[in-house]
Amino acid sequence: MNPSTIFSLLSSNGDSRDVSAQGWIRTKRDSKNIIFFEINDGSCFSSMQVVVDKESGLVSEELNHKLLTGASVTVQGRLVASQGKGQGVELIADEVKLIGESQADYPLQKKRHSFEFLREIAHLRPRTNTFGAVTRVRNALSTAVHAFFQERGFLWIHTPIITGSDAEGAGNMFQVTSLNMDDVPRLKDGKIDYQQDFFGRKSHLTVSGQLQVENFACSMSNVYTFGPTFRAENSNTTRHLSEFWMIEPEMAFCDLDGNMQMAEDFIKYLLSYVLNNCSEDMDFFNKWVQKGTIENLQKVVDSSFTHMSYTEALKILDKADTKWEYKPSWGIDLQAEHEKYLTEEVIGGPVTLTDYPKDIKAFYMKQNDDGKTVRAMDVLVPRLGEIIGGSQREDNLEKLQKRMYEMNMDSSEYDWYLDLRRYGSVPHSGFGLGFERIVQYVTGMQNIRDVIPFPRAPKTISF
Ligand code: 4AD
Ligand code: MG
Repeated sequence: MNPSTIFSLLSSNGDSRDVSAQGWIRTKRDSKNIIFFEINDGSCFSSMQVVVDKESGLVSEELNHKLLTGASVTVQGRLVASQGKGQGVELIADEVKLIGESQADYPLQKKRHSFEFLREIAHLRPRTNTFGAVTRVRNALSTAVHAFFQERGFLWIHTPIITGSDAEGAGNMFQVTSLNMDDVPRLKDGKIDYQQDFFGRKSHLTVSGQLQVENFACSMSNVYTFGPTFRAENSNTTRHLSEFWMIEPEMAFCDLDGNMQMAEDFIKYLLSYVLNNCSEDMDFFNKWVQKGTIENLQKVVDSSFTHMSYTEALKILDKADTKWEYKPSWGIDLQAEHEKYLTEEVIGGPVTLTDYPKDIKAFYMKQNDDGKTVRAMDVLVPRLGEIIGGSQREDNLEKLQKRMYEMNMDSSEYDWYLDLRRYGSVPHSGFGLGFERIVQYVTGMQNIRDVIPFPRAPKTISF
């Protein structure tokens, strides 16, 4: 008999038909006449309760000793309406096959483990309730990302992982090299001879696919990239990873207003998708991880995002009766405490801030006439702060070249990017959504390292 997923079994009626299920034992209760154990296969939050009549002799004493938490089993039996509370159906076993034993020191015994401890056993943590739920919600969100853009006719562009250009100009890139680090080839002046390196020049892991996806927008109109990005920032926070996934749409013939609307529609779509498709997992997060999260997300779906300029936001922060660690003044990059204050105390929901000072933003953003600000937009949300960063792009060749010159950039390396402004330049805009940040937002998980299978952060690369 072909085994069914526990999800499909639990969604059906207990009509005594013969079925087979397989999974890992979560818990076991051994009473005088009956053995109860629960198996989970990851297909849904709930486990299947298996009931074994001891008198039937189908589980020997020896096998019973081996039915330990963590062991893998296949069970054949009859699916019946459950006698107990909490589940609709249960499986009356006719045959129990031990597939893989679990040693007695299995680290996931039935008790609450701290997230810190679970990070040390990241290879086993998907067997816990929380990480099983995170894994399914993460999967649902990536499906929703593609559904949203595909429904709107956007093309998915696979932008490169290894790159010769620094998209954000922030300089926090991981270098990629095949040079022998113990014997690096050098020029006469002592500098490294990158001509002998694999690509014949210095190269890096990408921090963003934007420059390349902009390229495709300037031919294909509406496009997006969704892939891993890498940042060598030494930030040990609950919202930074060194390797994270980013979704970056880019739209030709689109200004900042269109961009803001797209970002808002996108976030609402993602939230609705999860609320409609992951209700069992969301009930768990709502109850055990972040109380009220379902109601909060629904409220976001049902209301409009507040818009505010950076300058207005600074006025509010300046007037705030708060003891700042970092005093706000026009020109600063907003700190977590400022973003928290704006979203939680002032707005009570997401806010889109626009028109930031040009000196704290990347070279490619469209310059405003005031000479001080650029057409940037960040979407901030309660608890997390920045979740989206984007802008209208500078489409004027001379202005872009001038800005690159001011920022000491070597424009010869970006000649291909400047060509987009030479041949049929169009207004275009886009943004980047940090995928792990949206998973955090939706689930209420506190630490970004707990919403990605194997987190990479400073001094963290196990598994
Ligand atoms: O604001 P950022 O740096 O923007 C860009 O990379 C642009 N090229 C996007 C674009 O316009 N196409 O990053 C975008 C988002 C942030 O808002 C944040 O959600 C996430 O990426 N992010 C990180 N997530 C986890 N760990 C990090 N170290 C992150 N850095 C940025
Ligand atoms: Mg940003």
